[in-house]
Amino acid sequence: METTTLALHTQFQIGKVDPRIFGGFLEHIGRAVYQGVYDPTSAHADANGFRSDVLSALRRLNMTALRYPGGNFASGYHWIDGTGPCDKRPTIRELAWQSREPNHFGTDEYIQLARQMNWTPMITVNLGTGTPEEARNWVEYCNAPAGTRYSDLRAANGSVAPHAVKLWCLGNEMDGPWQLGHVPADQYAIRAQQAAKMMKDVDKSIELVACGSCTTGLPTYMEWDRQVLEYIGDLADYVSLHRYVGNRANDTLDYLAITNSIDRQIEEMDAMCRFVQAKRRSPKRADLCFDEWNVWYKNHQTDGEGKFAPHLIEEEYNLEDALVVAGFLNSFIRHADVLKIANLAQIVNVIAPILTRGDAMLLQSIFYPFEMFSRRREGISLQPIVAGPAYEGKTNGRVNYIDASAILDGDRLHVFATNRSLGEFARVQIQVADRKIAALERGESLTGPHAQAANTFEQPNVVQPQPFSDAQILDGRAEVKLAPLSVTALTFRLDAVE
Ligand code: AHR
Repeated sequence: METTTLALHTQFQIGKVDPRIFGGFLEHIGRAVYQGVYDPTSAHADANGFRSDVLSALRRLNMTALRYPGGNFASGYHWIDGTGPCDKRPTIRELAWQSREPNHFGTDEYIQLARQMNWTPMITVNLGTGTPEEARNWVEYCNAPAGTRYSDLRAANGSVAPHAVKLWCLGNEMDGPWQLGHVPADQYAIRAQQAAKMMKDVDKSIELVACGSCTTGLPTYMEWDRQVLEYIGDLADYVSLHRYVGNRANDTLDYLAITNSIDRQIEEMDAMCRFVQAKRRSPKRADLCFDEWNVWYKNHQTDGEGKFAPHLIEEEYNLEDALVVAGFLNSFIRHADVLKIANLAQIVNVIAPILTRGDAMLLQSIFYPFEMFSRRREGISLQPIVAGPAYEGKTNGRVNYIDASAILDGDRLHVFATNRSLGEFARVQIQVADRKIAALERGESLTGPHAQAANTFEQPNVVQPQPFSDAQILDGRAEVKLAPLSVTALTFRLDAVE
């Protein structure tokens, strides 16, 4: 394959990378909460009942904002059920996933977990079967100083100091006909505006995420978003995007070209936000919050059959899925000017990088790109100009074999590069027009024996990153050779500015 050039200039800046694009999502579904993060009966349980092995693995992902409690679950959830003494909480027949919910894990446990993990809490209120007032009460429970009905309830439950939750989502996927309480855009807009006003009246400092289109596939795509944002106006700080992708046609090259359509989804939503801003003649625009994203297409077990912690959508991930996860992250970094929050859906057991089985735990392939990117997330996203061999994906269009993004952090340059070729090594020359590359400080590369290779409980180390140090530095440019079907993260030191 001919050499690919990745050209950068430190002045060609897209924007500061918001650390919150490395967020996660924890929903009451399947074994995500129970047997996932929370399992007082596990040999790994800590003093708060959290699984210490799972938390140690999650710590490596260095996640920021952690969205909770759903997802579809949120649209039937009454938060008060998950407060107070555990043995007095009601067991509920939960309708989003047809499961039994004992409410042993609720707001205070979630806040405790977030504190332990240094996660920014991000709560989705129920705008499906719940009311705007119930949402407002939840803000009071979490954020008001003690001395009023719901803040006193929080104090009585053990937290005198407010939980200080700054990020709130105004419902979940309300455009989807599967959603409990789904309504047309104009009706959701009224609900969301009423909730937003009251929630901000309780605490002016909170930031709100309005429900945007949950897929590009529904007929209401974009029109939903326009109507909602025009009506809610400046009360919406962000609008949400969701996306789950998969290799449904068993065509790896086309699957890996999905980055085109992720870029396009972000750019369409950005255009819509600018349109609404212009139409409203407002100084404020809604930024983008990609609060659910991942690969999900193999496992469709979504009916819990009335059970507690059933095995639901426990997707198994392989090498090509890991490359697609890297593709999402590259796209997020390339849109750092408008994309401020993103949440990998989800964190454990349910479409997740981590699986538990009894007291055992497995790190899936998608764990590693997230870790490799997340530990290099500080800095400013630079415009990557990639020139080199390309191919035509059957449905996703033309892409370079190399998918890339770059972050400048002072005198350090982080480069992320995926080689989509099924069988060929790719030479990549990395050049920074106004600076010289001095040395490769650290690198890792993830690949495996073939596109469908996966880690299993029996063979957990099939898809694993290896240290990468093989960079030639000549005249301030770096040249690297990337394995077929690989994702590589590199940290270079730049020469000091003269
Ligand atoms: O993450 C699983 C589900 O996918 C979420 O509950 C829902 O919002 C989406 O459809």
